[in-house]
Amino acid sequence: MKKISIVGAGNTGATAAHWLAERELADVVLLDVVEGMPQGKSLDMLEAMPIIGKDTHILGTNNFEDTKDSDIVIITAGIARKPGMSREDLLKTNAEIVGNAATEALKYSPNAFFIVLTNPLDTMSYLTMKKTGLPRERIIGQAGVLDSARMRAFVAMETGVSVENVQCYVLGGHGDEMVPLTRHSNIAGIPLRDYLPADKLEAIVNRTRKGGGEIVGLLKTGSAFYAPSLACVQMAEAILKDKKLIIPCAVYMDGEYGLKDIFFGVPVVLGAGGMEKIVEYKFDDEEKAMFEKSAESVRSSHEALKSVVKL
Ligand code: LAC
Repeated sequence: MKKISIVGAGNTGATAAHWLAERELADVVLLDVVEGMPQGKSLDMLEAMPIIGKDTHILGTNNFEDTKDSDIVIITAGIARKPGMSREDLLKTNAEIVGNAATEALKYSPNAFFIVLTNPLDTMSYLTMKKTGLPRERIIGQAGVLDSARMRAFVAMETGVSVENVQCYVLGGHGDEMVPLTRHSNIAGIPLRDYLPADKLEAIVNRTRKGGGEIVGLLKTGSAFYAPSLACVQMAEAILKDKKLIIPCAVYMDGEYGLKDIFFGVPVVLGAGGMEKIVEYKFDDEEKAMFEKSAESVRSSHEALKSVVKL
């Protein structure tokens, strides 16, 4: 059985463990600094396995040694947004937590792939790469799957068609400047722009951009976790099964799309080699401008990181 360790046993971490366990995709280690909490959640999940007939082993721990020889490490540790906070407000606190999680996990799993979920997402992925010194293929941030799934859900709600028929592609940084590509998104192959009136499509784009904030506003004490954690699981599955799945993920840009030295959401091929390839769309001028604006805000977040952490 493959092994996936999840650092952070809060809502996103524990729910990722839940989705993984249900799929019998890998044995799971759920780690947190809080004593008893990861152990309790893991034991509870383990006790659920006989009911669904899955032999997933789930271990809760406070000790990084238990993550030894993981194939994949998912980092969810950190504080979440409260109403009125931007993802950037989390930067300093989460940089310390994620930096430590990444270096500790790497000690015990030198061959692991890292999937990063902690916000501000693009910058925490950048930090993970700089702290671990790993090649970019092995550090992948989750954002595009979630943002695209939100847009797909909104389109399905608006049109009444199955979510399976709705394909949407949201790229760029995981912030309000993200880039929903309406020209490339479609319902059963029909471009969204032909299927929906312009005002409805614009409303969906705006709701997608603020999708994370909408959930924070409703929950009040935290942020979304069902969809974000499932997005990580889809990424882990693509790597473990060598699926060559093309999905938008935050990866280190080295000249692609004209961007360098930032983590940014672009379509990538995920397989046994991790991030195997960046897929480049041909953009029109409007899309290029949106991409550049989003890149600018990610760049300034990376700069803010460099002012609080030595990389
Ligand atoms: C969201 C937060 C978790 O988009 O980034 O829901």
